[in-house]
Amino acid sequence: MSIKALWHTAARKALVLGTAGALAAGGAVVALAGTAEAASSLGAAAAAKGRYFGTAVANNHLGETDYASALNAEFNSVTPENEMKWDAVEPNRGSFNYTSADRVFDHAKSRGMQVRGHTLVWHSQLPGWVGSLAAADLRTAMNNHITQVMTHYKGQIYAWDVVNEAFQDGSSGARRSSPFQDKLGNGFIEEAFRTARAADPAAKLCYNDYNTDGVNAKSTAVYNMVKDFKSRGVPIDCVGFQGHFNSQSPVPADFQANLQRFADLGVDVQMTEVDIEGSGTAQANNYATVVRGCLAVTRCTGITVWGVTDKYSWRASGTPLLLDGSYQKKPAYTSVLDVLNGGTTTPPTTPPPTTPPPTTPPPTTPPGGTGCVATYTTEQSWTGGYNGTVTITARGSAINGWSVPLTFRSGQTVSTVWNGTSTMSGTQMTVRNAPYNGSLGAGASTSFGFTVNSGDATPPAVGACTAS
Ligand code: XIL
Repeated sequence: MSIKALWHTAARKALVLGTAGALAAGGAVVALAGTAEAASSLGAAAAAKGRYFGTAVANNHLGETDYASALNAEFNSVTPENEMKWDAVEPNRGSFNYTSADRVFDHAKSRGMQVRGHTLVWHSQLPGWVGSLAAADLRTAMNNHITQVMTHYKGQIYAWDVVNEAFQDGSSGARRSSPFQDKLGNGFIEEAFRTARAADPAAKLCYNDYNTDGVNAKSTAVYNMVKDFKSRGVPIDCVGFQGHFNSQSPVPADFQANLQRFADLGVDVQMTEVDIEGSGTAQANNYATVVRGCLAVTRCTGITVWGVTDKYSWRASGTPLLLDGSYQKKPAYTSVLDVLNGGTTTPPTTPPPTTPPPTTPPPTTPPGGTGCVATYTTEQSWTGGYNGTVTITARGSAINGWSVPLTFRSGQTVSTVWNGTSTMSGTQMTVRNAPYNGSLGAGASTSFGFTVNSGDATPPAVGACTAS
């Protein structure tokens, strides 16, 4: 990062802290100069940018108060770290065990967090019985595994890593050897995606891999596969980039360009397992680059870091996460939050203005009057469902809470609501603010989202926003 950019970050930090400090503590969202809003958690800040900020979660740590508190305070998306892998859910053929996976899933969903499913078909953490099947039987077992697991969580998973790490490292661009590749051939990936779409049409279906974060032979091989899938109508919605970085594998200079070339194929992109070894400013700058890159790509829908705390990282010696082993916020944390709140998509080349620029477009209803305004957008739709977002903007004065009624067509079912608390009555759903996004300064905005997973794709009728 340039000196100017560093100065910019420091200046912004001072402004954010200064403003937040001047306001009463307690609200998760505080107003900045009446135009922009600065959220005080990663999840809320990402949500204000229409994205999620998630973490890998391990069931065996949920009982630790500090772990659960940090998770609940900061993140709005969860990926079970190991609990949904093949060896965990189907250790013996046909015998499924969702105990640990459900604990992580329930913890997340009961707190309004979305869940990424990880992962259905992968050569690793694969029980031995799978590898010893002959081709025909292996195909049946793979499709059955996908169908059973996805059906268990049907309509409730935001995105699934359907196939993980199927390409080799290095310059060959070849597929990695695995029981699936070796016995079923290249077609196994396509087959897995088709089976997955049939099992849960509401879930986004992702291909996920590592060392694909920049433009290189491996990422180009994945790119060519996605391009081929899109041209032939093979169902794929997203590509996950794991984002495991260290000095041997640094954040590539063409990271953003690589995300963009995939997005241009018509898929969402997500950072799925980010951890960056290091410490201090260097680590903070690397994290800032990743977050900026995602924010700059419209179809980059969210970022997941691979763990809550360095204490339990799978690469703990590299201290690669945002909270240290005592759950203290590291410089990397502050830098991620700043970038999410600042919304700068590229490092500035001129010194910033003395007041921060607005991070959200001004509301279409001019500020003035009291109360709030709700506006609706359909984010994605597919056969039998869609995701919608409602943005709430406070008018001329601050509000402490909001509520919006939505009326659906009969036959439509809402499977998930995030960043809001919902109650259903017939075809009407009323969504109130979540505990962390009710307080909005004059002119400030927040948003909530939901998934409709049955019926047609007609958007809901959005009633008037009520402020409290
Ligand atoms: C890792 C987990 O973090 C560890 O706890 C486990 O021992 C091994 O797997 N790519 C992936 C993740 O897709 O599932 C891996 O997670 C890290 C690399």
